[in-house]
Amino acid sequence: MQYIPAKEYFEGEFTLPGDKSITHRAVMFNAVANGTATVTNALMGEDCLSTCRCMQALGAKVEIDGTTIRVTGTPTFQSGVTLDCGNSGTTIRLLTGLVAGKGVQVTLTGDASLSTRPMKRVAEPLSALGANVQTTDGHAPVVVYPQRLNGDKVELAISSAQVKSAVLLAGLSADGKTMVTEPVKSRDHTERMLSAMGANIQVNGNTVTVEKSNLCAIDVRVPADISSAAYFMALGALKGKTLCKNVGVNPTRTGILRAFDKLGVRYTLCNKQVSGGEETADILVEKSNLRAVTITGEEVPAMVDELPLVALLCAFADGESRITGAKELRVKESDRIRTTAELIRNLGGDCEELPDGFIIRGQKSLRGGNIDSYLDHRIAMTGAVGLIASREGGNVIRPECCAISFPDFFEKLGVK
Ligand code: S3P
Repeated sequence: MQYIPAKEYFEGEFTLPGDKSITHRAVMFNAVANGTATVTNALMGEDCLSTCRCMQALGAKVEIDGTTIRVTGTPTFQSGVTLDCGNSGTTIRLLTGLVAGKGVQVTLTGDASLSTRPMKRVAEPLSALGANVQTTDGHAPVVVYPQRLNGDKVELAISSAQVKSAVLLAGLSADGKTMVTEPVKSRDHTERMLSAMGANIQVNGNTVTVEKSNLCAIDVRVPADISSAAYFMALGALKGKTLCKNVGVNPTRTGILRAFDKLGVRYTLCNKQVSGGEETADILVEKSNLRAVTITGEEVPAMVDELPLVALLCAFADGESRITGAKELRVKESDRIRTTAELIRNLGGDCEELPDGFIIRGQKSLRGGNIDSYLDHRIAMTGAVGLIASREGGNVIRPECCAISFPDFFEKLGVK
């Protein structure tokens, strides 16, 4: 249990950990590339460590030194191995695609939470390329059997960077062209990094085309994760002033800034740069009077991991907010529609669940209370922000899960 005091004022300059999505990809893709690469400012969260261990088990050399990872690729994978993906949806989904056309048999497993998350969404599009991916009733453990792949057109029913990336990675070892289309463009780190590594890949709107390619190792300097910065940005908006340094602001990830525009949050981006094909900026956020918002499905992919926090901000906004088209939240590390609604109610707020989102009636201030993380890192961190912003503070129950994406979160928050 972690006690979180209420604070009148919250101010500071923050350097946040490296981006989770980019760290996974930098390790995974370099592990199949020609040569050796150095990944700096890598996230040392549990999820990325799962990816490192899986790539080692497949035969790549992965050496960790602080927040630097040195990766030497392997042209072929070990067959017959079992890969423990821990809590990481990105690891299991991307790896299923990556190994599908590599001529090996691999079993992918995970913890109790990961084993409840849908895997058919990956198995089905991969089978369109000829892959042999067997799930356990639609879930992990997943067994991938060796199979020659043929490129095809794949129309995804949901916008998911994990599913899109799995198909693209399988496409790298398929004969012919693989074309993936998604309803709304999800985060595009895979496309950017594969292109920088010399893959034959083209992007046209929401469609990505890839052909059989060999990858060249590239060094990656990982920007700070906007999903981790978001907690400190929200505290700036609620309680004072925060500056988050060198945050990745790839437009497929900055839905939170568009939500800020609607909420009336005062923020500025400065020191804009491009590093390793990804835009970065310092983000300054100042205390703001929040107003209610409406958020719909097309806006969701670019802020999918920030929606619990956006819902929390709505609980402090003037008026009734409505977030819809966010059914994906039900199949994250927890059912985030249920756990977020409970979190807001336990703080003393008013939040109603919809099948695909929330109705939140905002209040000037919230009481505080005890928040169970349900072992979901984003719920634990959203809860902590809500408690700091509340009148009385309270406890985050089962706070250790923050280590999934932000190991020193409570230290950075100044409560530990
Ligand atoms: C991720 C994609 C998102 C996100 C997850 C990381 C990725 O999942 O929720 O935390 O790195 O590709 P979906 O794209 O499946 O929504």
